[in-house]
Amino acid sequence: MTGQQVRDIVTDCQFEGDMKFMEPMSRHTSLKIGGPSDIFAIPENFASLGRLHDYLQKNDIALFPLGSGTNILVKDGGIQGAVICFSSFRKIEPAGEDGEYAYLSVDSGTVLQRLVMHSREQGYAGVEGLAGIPGTVGGAIWGNAGSFGYEIKDVLVSVDMMGAEGRIQKVRAEDIGFGYRKSGILPTDLLLRAEIKLRKDKRDEVSARFENFLKAKREKQPIWESSAGCVFKNPEGLPAGKLIDEAGCKGMSIGDVAVSTIHANFFINRGKACAADFIRLMHEVAGRVSSTFGITLEPEIKIVGRDNGNG
Ligand code: EPU
Repeated sequence: MTGQQVRDIVTDCQFEGDMKFMEPMSRHTSLKIGGPSDIFAIPENFASLGRLHDYLQKNDIALFPLGSGTNILVKDGGIQGAVICFSSFRKIEPAGEDGEYAYLSVDSGTVLQRLVMHSREQGYAGVEGLAGIPGTVGGAIWGNAGSFGYEIKDVLVSVDMMGAEGRIQKVRAEDIGFGYRKSGILPTDLLLRAEIKLRKDKRDEVSARFENFLKAKREKQPIWESSAGCVFKNPEGLPAGKLIDEAGCKGMSIGDVAVSTIHANFFINRGKACAADFIRLMHEVAGRVSSTFGITLEPEIKIVGRDNGNG
């Protein structure tokens, strides 16, 4: 794709917002890793997003919805097609009450911690266990983010989604096919907003639980470092972090990627890490866990993009 083609897209679909060409994804991921995306689009309203979606589908250009890049590893060759960023969509609005429950309408680009803080201020219970999880509400729903026994699916009523034909439809939470750190939402489905159901509670009690969860997270996880959170899923009943630790991998490194000495399921970018080294370290660690315990680890982070030199 060329810069001229990108300018043509802006004109052809009357794009409103910001569109960049060959944008380094290392600027848009918490790991600070990732080659350039052909197109990086930040539509400023849903109508413009709809026109862009339509154009990309008709012209067979791949699209990749991006939350805030906190649970992904983008390969060194970057992302083919168009990355769509939802940072213009960040509204949280009250959406009614029903007995002991309060409903909120939340745009998918809303930072998850803003929703957590808003709920805490209002004394709404249900998302305090998500304290400290980075990323957007859309990304959290896509990967069914969770911690301390809380999962975003448990407070979700429905989502508004722009599907393959550019139509907006409401999908109920029970039809989304949620599982442990996954949903049935397709990569071509764009999450626009969500309806969230929270239980009205005492403000100081929600606040106390929030503080405890955040404290536990700060003590156990290197949340101040550049990472993508837990790299591997927990195999049934066994924490991956414990297995990696006991296989002797803490502190292991390849290039500038290192297994955290705080929590072994976090890999840290110490400065100039690349995706190839990150993937090599994943293989090395999974290999050691497999040979020590006979257990196969599955990635929890999503690996996307093309290898260097392929595109
Ligand atoms: N442990 C070790 N060594 C380590 C790390 C952990 O021995 O290096 C031990 C701990 O001492 C503990 C056990 O492993 O006994 C479990 O560790 P922890 O309580 O930190 O929880 P986890 O199972 O590693 C899960 C989620 C986290 C979530 C926490 C808190 C997964 C893969 N991980 O971690 O989610 O924040 O529980 O609820 O499901 C994420 O999804 O990115 C993530 C970080």
